[in-house]
Amino acid sequence: MLKGNLRGKDFITTQEWDYDELESVLDLASEIKKEPGKFSSELQGKSLIMLFFNPSTRTRLSFEIGMTQLGGHSVHMDAEKAWIGKGSESIKDTASVMAKYADGISIRIFPNITDWQYGKSNEVVREFAKWAEIPVINMECDMFHPCQALADILTIKEKKGNLSGKKFVLSWVYHPRPLPVSVPNSALLIATRFGLDVTLLHPKGFELDEQIMEWARSNCESNGGSLEVTQSMDEAYRDADVVYVKAWGSLKHYGKFEEEKKFRVDFRDWICNEELMELTNKDSIFMHCLPIRRNVEATDGVVDGAHSVVYDEAENRLHVQKAVLSLIM
Ligand code: CP
Repeated sequence: MLKGNLRGKDFITTQEWDYDELESVLDLASEIKKEPGKFSSELQGKSLIMLFFNPSTRTRLSFEIGMTQLGGHSVHMDAEKAWIGKGSESIKDTASVMAKYADGISIRIFPNITDWQYGKSNEVVREFAKWAEIPVINMECDMFHPCQALADILTIKEKKGNLSGKKFVLSWVYHPRPLPVSVPNSALLIATRFGLDVTLLHPKGFELDEQIMEWARSNCESNGGSLEVTQSMDEAYRDADVVYVKAWGSLKHYGKFEEEKKFRVDFRDWICNEELMELTNKDSIFMHCLPIRRNVEATDGVVDGAHSVVYDEAENRLHVQKAVLSLIM
């Protein structure tokens, strides 16, 4: 079943894994989901150190429970309570010591309120990967959320079957705070990787990183999908098979919160509602990585409505991460 040896491989972005490697993860995730008991000793005696610089619900629970279900053990570390979070120990020393104790390290580090420099927290994850002699998993940095992307594509495959010719809409929505671009970057990369016809919808000024756009265009060329960008909500939602909604901050005003706030407030009416979902195909699905600001990003009617698969999507975090952990550890 496995199409390559993934043992020891870091997982920082899906873009750095081959298509076959990603397919191996999804195949294994489906198998684990079907028969979890078969994998209950998979990581017996193995430990994962989970280092969190930010809050989390789904990521912490699904990694921690996933390790237990695989027969292994996880250690949750709040960065604030460790020397690294206090700025008193280097990444090299922290990572090298962690590698002496454990079999894997996973890190969540997206920008906090005082430290918004795009790409900086991705560099921290990469620095850990450089010094740790064990695999490092990105649990979300400022550029990527690869585990979310795997859960997203598994959910789409489960709900839609063959992805060829399916219209995937990645829609910016309003949020009172600027949020990281890690989820939209990762959703765009995985959707184009798996041959979906992607429509990226956002107001002017909320363009994604040009490097990510370039990768997405190149993914389309290699995998047979397409990529369009529009500012028209009606055009985007019409005949969509998958609607993926996410709020993100403007890279143009990155880290300049007051300046961005004045700019973003004009787009308060960018909310996913029942009227827009009516434009989509009858059996379309509505996705969001959660947590969602209800009635700001999307209405209750949409989040709780017939199209919504948000809880299945969250469940798949558990299965895909168990697959990644099994394969790399
Ligand atoms: N989607 C996601 O990563 O959720 P948490 O922030 O709760 O981990």
